[in-house]
This record gives sequence, C-alpha cells and structure tokens, in this order.
Amino acid sequence: MKKNIKLGVFGFGCVGQGLYNVLHQTRGISAEIKKICIKHPEKDRPIDAKFFTTSRDEILNDPEIDVVVELIDEVEAAFEIVSAALRKKKAVVSANKKMIAEHFAELLNLQKKYNTSLLYEASCCASIPVIRNLEEYYDNDLLTSVEGILNGSTNYILTHIFENNKAFNTALKDAQAHGYAESDPSLDVQALDPKYKLLIILVHAFGIILTPDDIFNYGIDHLKEADIRYAREKNARIKLIARCAKNGDKVYALVMPQLVAEQNTLNKVTYEYNGLLLEGAFSEHQFFMGKGAGGSATGSAVLSDISALTYDYRYEYKKLHQQLNHAYTRNLMLDVYVSYNGIEPNINDFESIWVKHESAECNYLVGMINLEKLVSVKWRNEPTISIILNNVI
Ligand SMILES: NC(=O)c1ccc[n+]([C@@H]2O[C@H](COP(=O)([O-])OP(=O)(O)OC[C@H]3O[C@@H](n4cnc5c(N)ncnc54)[C@H](OP(=O)(O)O)[C@@H]3O)[C@@H](O)[C@H]2O)c1
Repeated sequence: MKKNIKLGVFGFGCVGQGLYNVLHQTRGISAEIKKICIKHPEKDRPIDAKFFTTSRDEILNDPEIDVVVELIDEVEAAFEIVSAALRKKKAVVSANKKMIAEHFAELLNLQKKYNTSLLYEASCCASIPVIRNLEEYYDNDLLTSVEGILNGSTNYILTHIFENNKAFNTALKDAQAHGYAESDPSLDVQALDPKYKLLIILVHAFGIILTPDDIFNYGIDHLKEADIRYAREKNARIKLIARCAKNGDKVYALVMPQLVAEQNTLNKVTYEYNGLLLEGAFSEHQFFMGKGAGGSATGSAVLSDISALTYDYRYEYKKLHQQLNHAYTRNLMLDVYVSYNGIEPNINDFESIWVKHESAECNYLVGMINLEKLVSVKWRNEPTISIILNNVI
C-alpha cells in the first residue's frame, strides 16, 4: 500500500470525532480523511461541511480512497458498508464489535476471497492493543487463559457504586454523559458488549469461531443493594468479568459479574478503564490496562490500525491456521452466589449448596452449578434473582 493513504470514514460521533482529533495531532502517520458519511445531515458539525456526505457510494466508489473506516453505531448498515468495501478490495478498519461478532465467519471469508484486510483493534478493549498482541506475541499454543474487564461503561458504573455509593441509574447516566456507554446501554449492562468482544478474542487466542448465542452472558442489571453489601463484607468488589480459558483439552468462555478480591489485580481496574490478564504455560501472568471507552482512546486504536495498513498489515489468524482443534465446552462447574426475593432458584439445579441464608433483608445461597445447567434454567432471568460468580472450579 502507498504511504499516504486516503480515508473514507463512516460515522462522526464519539469515536469518529475522536479519530479526527488524534489524526490531526500526529505527524507520524501519512493519512488524510477525504470524506465522512453520516446519517443526519441536519446536525451541527465541528468541522467544514465539505467533508460530509450521506451517500455511501461517494466513499465506496471513489478509487482514490484506499481505506474505509467504519465507526457507526448500527449493525446491519455497518455490515453492508464493510462487506461492500471489502468486495471493492479496499482495506477496512472497524470498531463495531457487535457487527464483527455477528458476522465473523462471513467477514473472514470476504477477506480471503478479495485478498484484503479488515482490522478491528478498537473493537475489543478500545485503547489496549489486545488483538495484535494475541496475533503476534502470543502466536503459539502456550496461552492458557484471557480474562478481564472488557466493558468500560459497566466498570465505570460499578466503580461509582462501590467507591462513591452512587445509585445504579445515576452512575449509568453519568457514563452516558461521558460517552462511555453504547448508544443502546442494554448492550453494556446486559453484558452483550463484552460477549461480542470475547467472541473476537477467542478467535485470536484459541482459534475458535463461535456465534454470540454460544457464549453465556449475565449482566449487572440484576444487582441489588444486598449483593453490594455481601461483596463489601467479603472485602471484594463486583466486576463484570469476561474470560476464555483452557480447561483440559477444551476451551470455555463466559461473561458474568464476579466477586473480585482486594488482592486481585483486576480489583484495581476502575472507572472507564479495561484490564486484561493473560496467562501462559511458561510466561505466567501478564497484565494490560488502558482506557476501554471514550472518543480519543478508541480513536487512537483506530489510528493505530490505519497506521498498520500503511505497511500492509493484515491478521494472519494464526491460531485458526495452526488447527489447534480445541473443542469448545460449557460443561464446567461454577461456584456462584445467588440472591433472591420471592421466586427462589431451584436447589435441585445445583450440584451442591454450601450456604443458604434467609433473613428479612435478603436471601441468598452459595453453591456449585454446571454452566450448561445455568444456561438452561428459567429462574436466572427473574429480575429479583441475581447471580454472581465466585470462581470457576
Ligand atoms: N464510544 C466508545 O467509547 C466506543 C468504544 C469502542 C468501540 N465503539 C464502537 O464504535 C462505533 C461508533 O460508536 P460511537 O460511540 O462513536 O457512536 P455514536 O457517537 O452514536 O456515533 C455514531 C455515528 O454513526 C453515524 N451513523 C449511524 N448510522 C449510520 C448510517 N447508516 N450511515 C452513516 N452514518 C451512520 C451517526 O451519524 P449522525 O452523526 O448523522 O447521527 C454518528 O455520526 C460503534 O460500533 C461502537 O460499538 C465505541
């Protein structure tokens, strides 16, 4: 690819503007924005109107544009844009984890068929370079687990609840006002956003391609005051943890709120920060931390992908090609705390129960349940039931 690249950008919201700002504050990258496609032409924009269009084709059909940068908040429109750009052999950068997770296999095929590159570093942990590290540094089968806080918005909410005694809704509004929440906040609080990210990480960490329905996610929208108190009594915080790891010759993945003890490194990851703990057979623990949301932080990861394209970088999907043949499993035991008011969890669904506490203030049990069972039980969706992971056994 030639050194001075011309960009066609889709979206000029939080991340699009973040990219514009970081691009104009660096001299190290020879890239310029030629056009920006937006949805609402009537909106006030902070830059010259000559940049904007509402016509996709003005970017997709422009032979001068080498790289399409997709930063919109819609999924199907984004998939249409990205697949059309790949078919035109343009390289693409995207931050849209939901679109990538829902269409992973198709996007992989398009990259192969049209021999072009799709990079998506910003989609996983915003500013933390996780995908390229998994591809280039952890490019062997010695990696054993990846776990962490992959959602800046819920971490911001949980930090405010634990450190500043804020109510859930106040903390959510605050996260939205700072641009840390998705346009649709249910993606964050129901743990869908970190699940999409985990799906992408799984491909680069273990060479497994799943669909979002394959991965269990449980959000923070069930949390009650009693759960916060319980965590405080245990000298822990509740964090929304996504993890994928080897379990014998199989690999599991799940996203759940978890009790994180004070001495755990992830306990110190606060507000909009993301943190990722990687474990290898010989390298043992490594820890990455960085801003997991926000326009400039995410824009800087997008910029890094654009920069990588100036030297023709593309993901090799090394773990897929190594044919590691790790089978995916949901057959594993979880040590969980379950609180309830009214409708009770069925105790027969548990392998064992260690604690059963009932009082006027709150009821809870602590016990062991198989993940496969937890996926199938209806009681877990009751709004008065809240499940928090202690440990994977
Ligand atoms: N915000 C973050 O911290 C963050 C972090 C990591 C990844 N991401 C991802 O980055 C992407 C963008 O997020 P954001 O926070 O920047 O969203 P946003 O602030 O809501 O901005 C969305 C932008 O997309 C444009 N748009 C929407 N539909 C369009 C369409 N069909 N055609 C053309 N333009 C369209 C909107 O146009 P108008 O301006 O005309 O309305 C707007 O400029 C999402 O995929 C998100 O998941 C965000």
